[in-house]
Amino acid sequence: MDMRQRIAGLAKEMLSAAFPEAQGLPEDLAGFLEVPPDPAMGDYAFPCFRLSKALRMGPPMIAKKLSEALEKPEIARVECVGGYLNFFFNRENFAREMLEAVMAAPEKWGSSEEGRGKTVCMDYSSINIAKRFHIGHLSTTVIGNSLKRIYDFQGWHTVSINHLGDWGTQFGKMICAYKKWGDRETVEKGGVDEMTRLYVRFNNEAAEHPELEDEGRAWFKKIEEGDPEALEIFNWFKNVTLKDAMRVYDILGVHFDSYAGESFYADKTGRVVEMLEEKGLLKDSDGAKIVDLEAYDMPPCLILKSDGATLYHTRDLAAAIYRKETYHFDQCLYIVAYQQDLHFKQLFKVLELMGYDWVQEQMKHVSFGMVSYEGQALSTRKGVMIYLDDLLRKAQEKALEIIREKSPNLENKEEVARQVGVGAVVYSTLQNSRIKDIDFHWDRALNFDGETGPYVQYTFARCCSVLRKAPEISAAPDYAALTDDEAQALLRLLSRFPEAVAEACQKNEPFMVTRATTEIAKAYNKYYYEHRILDDDPAATAARLKLTDAARQVIKTGLYLIGLEAPERM
Ligand code: ARG
Repeated sequence: MDMRQRIAGLAKEMLSAAFPEAQGLPEDLAGFLEVPPDPAMGDYAFPCFRLSKALRMGPPMIAKKLSEALEKPEIARVECVGGYLNFFFNRENFAREMLEAVMAAPEKWGSSEEGRGKTVCMDYSSINIAKRFHIGHLSTTVIGNSLKRIYDFQGWHTVSINHLGDWGTQFGKMICAYKKWGDRETVEKGGVDEMTRLYVRFNNEAAEHPELEDEGRAWFKKIEEGDPEALEIFNWFKNVTLKDAMRVYDILGVHFDSYAGESFYADKTGRVVEMLEEKGLLKDSDGAKIVDLEAYDMPPCLILKSDGATLYHTRDLAAAIYRKETYHFDQCLYIVAYQQDLHFKQLFKVLELMGYDWVQEQMKHVSFGMVSYEGQALSTRKGVMIYLDDLLRKAQEKALEIIREKSPNLENKEEVARQVGVGAVVYSTLQNSRIKDIDFHWDRALNFDGETGPYVQYTFARCCSVLRKAPEISAAPDYAALTDDEAQALLRLLSRFPEAVAEACQKNEPFMVTRATTEIAKAYNKYYYEHRILDDDPAATAARLKLTDAARQVIKTGLYLIGLEAPERM
């Protein structure tokens, strides 16, 4: 039940009743409707300004004429204010229709068929092999995860891709270092940290013995040529890194349909180079091959180094074409920090020059702000770094402490601490619009008060608790019990939840779901404090329980869509 559409339909009927002769009126009125800043001004406002020309009449006059043409059970009254026609719902009717609509398929409230038959590829998280998973990769991971859930909910077929950074000479150097100074057991035990140590040692020693660089390059060449020993070590490095990453993904509830990373495209770049050559797009530049993008005010896109090695761009070109040919996507999203804005502009431009006409419409760089740590840019070398496993562990510890204090009798404390701790971290990442830079502060990420993940989760648990305590009621709900301001405010937010999800999907902005869900939680709490839910009147109680149940379900959906779990007891 979409109230916006309903009111738009009414407005249309009113228009033709009041102005039967009028010509050239807009077809779609839903987009016209505004939500008044204060509910005292109505549930929806219809601005008459844009009709002024077609009707040759001042907006206040139009509003007045329209208001005379209405009589509908779902509308209690309309008011003309300035050039606006403000609609006030019939509150009892609205409560009934809304709750019946939500409860008819509670888990689907907010879903749609918008994406039915369409495929979206989403490239996110895309971590680098032999590096520890740090907060620099937190945003891409949780934004991507949330978008996948949102697109799924809007009916799309989604393909989530972890485009691993697993190609480049550094892996040759790492193997070289491992062969000289490492051993299997230490790497198995030390994991990514041990690989980093080997790599750092390689670079230090190579500063004094430059011939090491050649050895490192030779090992990379062996990987490229498929030498069994080189490949074995390389794949093992990958597995060790992925094992660490998987732990984080499991905690976050993140899944990928594909882990095809840069190495996967290594043998698919030849064709790209040939195509570029055929189209006359390749240029020599000091022995290297480039695509000149000067005409588009961009630096050249590097395709081959002078030794013939491919680059990040080359592999991304191959990946884009592969994805199109394999998944036939309608949208291809890259969820990567704005640091790489230029990289993607160049990538899309080169694809366009190659003659792919789907690029402009379908390829999108979904960029987001950078993470710093207490005002400083992240840097492993300078020790300005927070690792994701540390962060999640601390969050869980803090949650556990609070739970022990506040809910000593809770049975599954550890489990709930995990859900809540992770919830705090994920929520704080999805609280603002993507493009805002995030300065990471421990206190903020681990904040459990005010507008936070735990606050919303707690509200969900509160709804569950109210429903658990409720008696069996056979009376039909009396919706007249839900005509107060607090119930109506909550109902309005529930009715607009589907719009928020749809908009979040269109704009690739998960925070719109965060916001809508938080507003619902706040409205429920306000309702809860100001009204008795269980009282002597069973029909009124039944209505309030139904409202509680609807809020519970929509909060759960909202939490799920941003990647949070919903514990029933906290
Ligand atoms: N591995 C890269 C990084 O950590 C991100 C890769 C993004 N995806 C892509 N297709 N380029 O910066």
